[in-house]
Amino acid sequence: MAVTGLMMFGFILGHLAGNLLIYAGPDTFNAYAKKLQSLGEFLWVARCILLTALLFHVLSAIQLTFENRKARPIGYRRYDPEVTTYAARTMMLSGIILTAFIVYHLLHFTFRLTHPEVSNLHDARGNHHVYAMVVQSFRQWPVAVAYIAAMVPLCLHLSHGISSAFQSLGLQNNRLLPVFKNAARGIALLIFVGYASIPAACLSGLIQYTAGRTP
Ligand code: HEM
Repeated sequence: MAVTGLMMFGFILGHLAGNLLIYAGPDTFNAYAKKLQSLGEFLWVARCILLTALLFHVLSAIQLTFENRKARPIGYRRYDPEVTTYAARTMMLSGIILTAFIVYHLLHFTFRLTHPEVSNLHDARGNHHVYAMVVQSFRQWPVAVAYIAAMVPLCLHLSHGISSAFQSLGLQNNRLLPVFKNAARGIALLIFVGYASIPAACLSGLIQYTAGRTP
C-alpha cells in the first residue's frame, strides 16, 4: 500500500504542477498538454504503471479491511478514539470517493464523454484546446463545485496516507513522527489549495476563455 500510494502521490504532485500552468494562459497550457500527448509509448507505459498501482492499492485496502474485521469480529461496545484522527478513520471512505472521482474525471477530460460540447475544440495551431475544455467545464457551477468538493477527501486521504506510508516503510522514528505528520498535513493542504484553485478561478472569472479571444 505504501509503495503504490507514494507512486500515486508522485503523480498527484506532477499533475498539479502541470495543471497550474493554466495560470500561464492558453498557449502554455495547450503546449504542455500537447507535449504530454507526444510522449506516445512512454505515456502509455506511465498510464499502465499508474493503473496497476491504483489496482494494487485498492486490492491491498480491501485485504487490510478484511484482516481488521477478522481480528475484531465483534465491534467495540463503545468507540471513543483518542489517538487516531478523522482522516485516519475515514481512509476507506475517502478512498472510495476518490476512486469515483477519478472515474468521472477520466470520462470528463481524458475520454471527453461527459461534456462533449466543450471538449473537442482546437486552438489556432490546430492543437486540442485543453485550456478551453477545462475553463468552459468549470464555468458550469455544478462541475466546479463537484471538483472542489472532491479535493476534500483527496486532502484528507493524503494528510494521513503520506506519513503512514513513510511509517510503513520504516522511514521514520518516534522522534520524527510528529514532524512527518505535520509536514504531511501541510503538503495535503497545499495540494488541496492548488487543485481547488483551478475550478474556483474559472468559476469566478479570474481565468477566462472566449472563443477567438483569450486574455
Ligand atoms: C482541478 C483539478 C484537476 C484538473 C483541472 C485536472 C485536469 C486534467 C486534464 C485536463 C486531464 C487530461 C489531460 C489530457 O488528456 O490532455 C487530466 C487527466 C487526468 N487526471 Fe486530472 N485534473 C485535476 C485533478 C486530478 C486529481 C486530483 C487526480 C487524481 C487524484 C487526477 C488524475 C488524472 C488522471 C489519472 C488523468 C489521466 C492522465 C492520462 O491521460 O494519462 N486529476 N486531468
